[in-house]
Amino acid sequence: MPTQGTIVFMHLPGGPVPAGQLTMTSEPRASFATFAYGRRYLERPDRVAVDPVQLPLPDAGGRDVVFRTEEGFSNFNGIRDAAPDGWGRYLMYKALDDREPSEAEILLASGDYRVGALAFGPTPRAPERLTPWGEGAAPGEHFTLEELAAAVEQVQSVDELDDNLRRLLTAGSSLGGARPKAATQIDGQPWIAKFTANDDNYRICRIELATMRLARRCGLNVPNLDFREILGRDIYMIERFDRALTPDGVRRHPFASGLTMLGAHESDVGRHSYADLAAALRQYGSDPRGDLVELYRRMVFNILVTNDDDHLRNHGFLWEPRGWRLSPLYDVVPKPQVGHERTLVLGVGPQGRAATLNNAIAGAAAFGLAPADARREALALVDTVRDDWRASFVEAGLSEGEIRRFATCFRQADLGRELLADEVEL
Ligand SMILES: Nc1ncnc2c1ncn2[C@@H]1O[C@H](COP(=O)(O)OP(=O)(O)O)[C@@H](O)[C@H]1O
Ligand SMILES: [Mg+2]
Repeated sequence: MPTQGTIVFMHLPGGPVPAGQLTMTSEPRASFATFAYGRRYLERPDRVAVDPVQLPLPDAGGRDVVFRTEEGFSNFNGIRDAAPDGWGRYLMYKALDDREPSEAEILLASGDYRVGALAFGPTPRAPERLTPWGEGAAPGEHFTLEELAAAVEQVQSVDELDDNLRRLLTAGSSLGGARPKAATQIDGQPWIAKFTANDDNYRICRIELATMRLARRCGLNVPNLDFREILGRDIYMIERFDRALTPDGVRRHPFASGLTMLGAHESDVGRHSYADLAAALRQYGSDPRGDLVELYRRMVFNILVTNDDDHLRNHGFLWEPRGWRLSPLYDVVPKPQVGHERTLVLGVGPQGRAATLNNAIAGAAAFGLAPADARREALALVDTVRDDWRASFVEAGLSEGEIRRFATCFRQADLGRELLADEVEL
């Protein structure tokens, strides 16, 4: 019964402090984890829950609680958020010469660039990265975008622990998501760079750029974006919302995915809805009114651009001193589809996951919106998306042929007002 223990640190304004002790046990039939907050941490006025749902901060009386994961969970969601997904795991797998790393190894091997404010280490002294691939660190810490872009391309075809892989293990293996990416910075401010995958069918970096700019034109809360083309390689860049450059260095903001805020299991994601995220905002949010409208508008936007990858890890929350806020938007990418029936991953309204404006408007009460307001918000989004999506694609350097190929994604925006049912009058 291999059990691995680690200290969990939380980066607070003064630096990382030990928050508690985690054990991860991997058994052939089931894996589980336990966690206990440290007493000193619980006495801090600025303490933050490591996971607000599965590891709520105990009240004064309940100090010695040892949490154990629920049936079916190998780790707590809030801690799992700090570990990489497909891309980081792929890099680690390669570095281990095609040996599957354990969940505990993956977590402890994730480095400082991981999302949010958690960190790990074997002793309470300071966080420390444990890399099972040994001499893994690449020389130097910062790599140019050119080096990273070349490394991403090479690493997908070469099978050895070479300098390219080492660079990405340093800069890219800690972040979540499946697409090739790496941590980078502009003038000291952390950013994320997303690259082309060798088997991409579309120029996704440009499509993501065009769509995220469009979202910003719609008034959604979108981080600063940038785009580089270096030696013919596209790089989409997004400023990190969980890091802020201050005179004292880079500050980290605690982050929780939608999965964490719902206490949901990855394999159950199809059972959840935007209304569930809205309920989490009401329960844990520090500005639910504003965030609920933003969430509703994001749902409508996903419908209008056919972003059907709106799973719970693609929704995020940030800790502000008084509670949780919806994070800025990320990872919104249209996907061309055949046929007219569209669904999102998360439930939209009374017609379940059906990705239609009428379904969204009919479900708007969950976001605190009266029908007329819901309709007005949706129509404003329809108008902006219809008027601007082509120009956004052109601005991102996409061709007429690519625009034609993606027109199917924007069909609802192009027809928007005609598709709306008449029952809900303004
Ligand atoms: N601007 C950002 N600031 C901080 N964290 C981010 C930002 N964008 C994405 N993330 C985090 O990185 C993860 C991967 O990014 P994402 O764009 O979703 O990549 P992928 O397309 O591979 O899924 C997200 O799930 C989120 O946790
Ligand atoms: Mg993602």
